[in-house]
Amino acid sequence: MSYPLVAQMFGAVAICPKCLESDNFRLTASALAASLTARTKWVILNFPNNPTGAVLEAEDLLAIAEVLRRHPHVAILSDEIYEHLTFGARQHVSLLNVAPDLASRVLIVNGMSKAYAMTGWRVGFGAGPAGLIRAMTIIQSHATSGVCTLAQAGAVAALQSDPSKRVQMCAVYERRRDHVLAALRGIKGLSCARPDGAFYLFPGVHRLIGRITSGGRRLQDDVAIAEALLEEAHLATVPGSAFGYAGHLRLSIAASDADLTEAIARIKDFVQNLRG
Ligand SMILES: Cc1ncc(COP(=O)(O)O)c(C=O)c1O
Repeated sequence: MSYPLVAQMFGAVAICPKCLESDNFRLTASALAASLTARTKWVILNFPNNPTGAVLEAEDLLAIAEVLRRHPHVAILSDEIYEHLTFGARQHVSLLNVAPDLASRVLIVNGMSKAYAMTGWRVGFGAGPAGLIRAMTIIQSHATSGVCTLAQAGAVAALQSDPSKRVQMCAVYERRRDHVLAALRGIKGLSCARPDGAFYLFPGVHRLIGRITSGGRRLQDDVAIAEALLEEAHLATVPGSAFGYAGHLRLSIAASDADLTEAIARIKDFVQNLRG
């Protein structure tokens, strides 16, 4: 959700190609191609995706790479911070795995927050063309000087730790994904695509719009639904419109099983008590 605002800060206009719930929110090459113009500077990819949990397969990326080859003036930022959080047989594939010829204009961004549960430690890293990394280093040295040394040492320990811990954590997220997905699909009025990665579910709440809560609010959009859930059910969600997807809510499953069970019960109760 920050990237469109970052673009705006630099006087750019962010165009968000539509990814459809019926495609499990995967970006198609045609949607990307329709968004690119001669004035496009950057394409920002984020898969596995926040907020939808969409994961791209090699064939999706091959088609996307073909589009990018036709637009050599465009640089590509690939945010792969959820790379280790994929479910079932799905594995993260990077654009550069399928299209190494694009390396001179791809910046890969990653960080410790997700796979190592180090949110708040402020350690991220990137890989890209030397000139771009040099420029980023200059800006960063004037903006934040550097990452606190304790956090850097923690990141080194995490990166060198036994990867089976990460795999175990991912299995827990997958179990929670299955649990919450089945529960949401069982609530009349909600739809929910299956996320294949990251730790969010992104149910469609279109059918709740226009209805009235037990507290007497009319739900005119997803923001009103998120507000009503917060104030009447004491449950925090993020409205999809914050990500350019009106009519959805983002739910995080980075919470305990007990909290998730309680959250589902509150959502069910909230929806069942709607009038109108
Ligand atoms: C897609 C994506 N990129 C990057 C980040 C950055 O994480 P942090 O600022 O904690 O390093 C997040 C965190 O929510 C994210 O969802």
